[in-house]
Amino acid sequence: MTHLSILNVWRVQSVYRCLFFICLGRVYCASLATSPRTMSVVVLALCVTISALLYYLSVRKFSYWRNKNVPHLKPLPLLGNYGEYILMKKYVGHVSQEMCRKFSKEPYFGAFYGTEPTLVIQDPEIIKLVFTKDFYYFHSREIAKYTPNEVTTQNLFFTQGDKWKVVRQNLTPLFTSAKMKNMFYLVGKCGHTLEKLLDEETAMSGTVEAKSLMIKYTMDCIGSCVFGIETGAMEITTEKNVFVTMGEIIFNTSKFHGYKLVCRAIWPKIFYALGFKYYSTEIDIFFKSLLMSVFEKRNFKPTARHDFVDLVLALKQKNHIIGDSLNSKSMDNKKIEMKVTDDLLVSQCIVFFAAGFETSASTLSCALYELAKNQEAQRRAQEEVDEYLRRRNNKLVYECVTELPYIEACLNETMRLYPVLPVITREVVEDYTFPSGLQVDKGVRVHLPVYHLHRRPEYFPEPDSFHPERLYGDARMTSNPTHSSRSARDRGNVSVYASPKCRRP
Ligand code: HEM
Ligand SMILES: *[C@@H]1O[C@H](CO)[C@@H](O)[C@H](O)[C@H]1NC(C)=O
Ligand SMILES: *[C@@H]1O[C@H](CO)[C@@H](O)[C@H](O)[C@H]1NC(C)=O
Ligand SMILES: *[C@@H]1O[C@H](CO)[C@@H](O)[C@H](O)[C@H]1NC(C)=O
Repeated sequence: MTHLSILNVWRVQSVYRCLFFICLGRVYCASLATSPRTMSVVVLALCVTISALLYYLSVRKFSYWRNKNVPHLKPLPLLGNYGEYILMKKYVGHVSQEMCRKFSKEPYFGAFYGTEPTLVIQDPEIIKLVFTKDFYYFHSREIAKYTPNEVTTQNLFFTQGDKWKVVRQNLTPLFTSAKMKNMFYLVGKCGHTLEKLLDEETAMSGTVEAKSLMIKYTMDCIGSCVFGIETGAMEITTEKNVFVTMGEIIFNTSKFHGYKLVCRAIWPKIFYALGFKYYSTEIDIFFKSLLMSVFEKRNFKPTARHDFVDLVLALKQKNHIIGDSLNSKSMDNKKIEMKVTDDLLVSQCIVFFAAGFETSASTLSCALYELAKNQEAQRRAQEEVDEYLRRRNNKLVYECVTELPYIEACLNETMRLYPVLPVITREVVEDYTFPSGLQVDKGVRVHLPVYHLHRRPEYFPEPDSFHPERLYGDARMTSNPTHSSRSARDRGNVSVYASPKCRRP
């Protein structure tokens, strides 16, 4: 019996069950309503029934991995194997790492993300299938079909299917290296502003808070490169900068938002049926008016800057965008046409802002934290920068991205230790069979344990220590003495770049 038919049978049964208990309740009430003692019996009976129903609902999918013969851990009702994360007692990277360690010999194992069956894949070869060869079956990030429910979730980061593919194809031209090179002078400018801010802050106090400093810097970079505006995030004022405020609303770290995030991810149907939204509408209202004001300044015509706003303006004028269908099976190269709405464009702006500043700021602040603790690495990093500036007559140019290998190794090593996304989540889009014969049904969650992989001693000796040398120069090839059949380079591809809080419990 498939997953779905079990569900349907259960639904029919539950209707009967409810009817039965309602009748029972009525009988009690009708015959003995006068006695308060009987009333409490009825109430008790109802409570027991409701609890039993809820319990049943919370465990009904728990036979999934047993039926498929996949090794798995015993789940707790409602919380599955992610209780400590769901109750916000532990960092999700650690919860996932502990599970993976219990199955260290298995290429994959079953778990339950709350009530939902989830396949955790830890074998790099199988992860490659998921991300490349059989990407179509796994292209959806979890619950992507609910993204039309909110303006903020209609962007690349959340959507799936043809909508994702067509938008992505139309936005990719922004990221050519020629474009990056052209806008690099803007990053250089922000760098000089940061220098000034740092001088002022260190003059006032002996300590600076790295994360908020880096947020101001990366926001300013995104503001000028993506929106062509000055955010003023690095100005010292008494009032809070509006972009910084927006950033705090988007990445609200309150417990309430944490629970909301988890409930949306696990039970989207209930979440949206109850009328909740994850992102405050303040966010899309702000970015809509920001975008419109930038459009107005450009007289609704693309300029010579060819930046993100120009690209968005061009899309707006076209009304429709065209791209390829994602489905690998339709061989006829069908083109998909999509209507361009303001909401669609505003949503992309929000993700460029949010994904752009927060990821880079946490990576940079974690790198500063590690460098502060590792004086020798700090000395080498500083020396490399000084040498670069001497060579380049004190000018920061685009080529610095390739001319500072030690800094690059420091950043990569930071992203290894603090991946922005400690677990990458996917959802099976269409029933799929792995080479091992394991068949997974549409809707099953897939977790890729990035944090765990980055900290496996088999891949990275002394995995918890910051050691940029392992990625630098000749050491790069000799480190990672892992599986015999794979070269260090291949494994390098698995460690997806990624980073958040450096000081997790
Ligand atoms: C240190 C910097 C960054 C890190 C570590 C990082 C990390 C990631 C990761 C791991 C994903 C994939 C998530 C998944 O597949 O589930 C992703 C996607 C994405 N990131 Fe970043 N990111 C960084 C910087 C940026 C910047 C600067 C921007 C924009 C200006 C950006 C925009 C996006 C977008 C739009 C997506 C979705 C892409 C798609 O689905 O087509 N990111 N990022
Ligand atoms: C975050 O959410 C909490 C609870 O809804 C709210 O009280 C707080 O003001 C929010 N913080 C920001 C910066 O919006
Ligand atoms: C850093 O990571 C990027 C992306 O994976 C890779 O292309 C680059 O070679 C790495 N550099 C170093 C020094 O590790
Ligand atoms: C790893 O990435 C490099 C460069 O992006 C590529 O040439 C190589 O084929 C990749 N290896 C595998 C096994 O995908």
